[in-house]
Amino acid sequence: MDAEIRAGVAASGLVCISSYTFFALADLGSRGISQHVQEREPAGLLLAAKPKLGEAAEPAEPATDLAQLGTRLQEAELNAELRRQVEDANRQLARYARELKDLADLERHKAQQIQIANQQLRNYGRDLKVAVERERARSRELESAYLETVRRLTDASTFKDRETGAHIQRLSHYSRELALAAGSDALEAERLFAAAPMHDLGKIGIPDRVLHKEGPLDVDEWKIMKQHTIIGARLLEGSTSGLLELGRQIAIGHHERWDGTGYPFGLRGEEIAYAARIISICDSYDAIRSKRPYKLPIPHEATVSILLNGDGRSKPEHFDPVLLHIFSQIHERFSEIFALFQDESTAA
Ligand SMILES: [Fe+2]
Ligand SMILES: [Fe+2]
Repeated sequence: MDAEIRAGVAASGLVCISSYTFFALADLGSRGISQHVQEREPAGLLLAAKPKLGEAAEPAEPATDLAQLGTRLQEAELNAELRRQVEDANRQLARYARELKDLADLERHKAQQIQIANQQLRNYGRDLKVAVERERARSRELESAYLETVRRLTDASTFKDRETGAHIQRLSHYSRELALAAGSDALEAERLFAAAPMHDLGKIGIPDRVLHKEGPLDVDEWKIMKQHTIIGARLLEGSTSGLLELGRQIAIGHHERWDGTGYPFGLRGEEIAYAARIISICDSYDAIRSKRPYKLPIPHEATVSILLNGDGRSKPEHFDPVLLHIFSQIHERFSEIFALFQDESTAA
């Protein structure tokens, strides 16, 4: 902008000076500067009027008309002034020309710099794209390695736990359905699908005499059993994988209850991780419906009623009310999933 203003000023100056110079030069050209000055030099006129030595003084010519002499003097001064102005104008023109050239050089330099910067940006963009692609590939590879780890860990836990592979599959499907219905995007829902099997991972660390006890657990045995949440979280903590971190949140929080009566910490409401609140509803639905050594299976409609209205043992206050309401709208999907993934332990 500054350069444009300077160029404008220089150009208008050039126009003014050029106009002025043109008229001045035109005037001089028509007269012939030096001849004009010499012809009209008043000193010459005076000398011509002076008698030389030895020469007899001629009778003085009649004095030149003084008024004419004065006029010639004025014209000579005018011509000298004019010459000075022409020289000034020429110097100014030369300065403007130099400034214009400098401006043009500067603009050319700027254009070159911009071109170089653009090229550099294009190069950076290309390098960045390559790096992002490489990083994505690496992250896909890493994610699939984590998934593999999770699968093997949960496989290991099913060797010990009565809860079967079918239960784990159903839990993944229920939680994805509930998360999507509750507004999670597809990616979040998929991550929950992958992380859900880790909820009871900590049962690996529970002694068989407690884990496989046929009858009801006594107080001490319950204390031990409740530890599976903490053991699972310890197994999964400290990972840089978002998936394993989600698994940790689910492991530690899936037996917490919205009203604060759950374990291991008695957290309430939104203190409980969102993913754990989703798993809590899904795990409860599946546990109520399934056949266990200590209980008979319960049909879908009765299970839904127990979750929504309570049965003395289960209470609706145990669950996130928003998620429970969404469950009440999509429970048919739970029934379909339950029917789809069956094994001998869940058959009604
Ligand atoms: Fe559990
Ligand atoms: Fe479970």
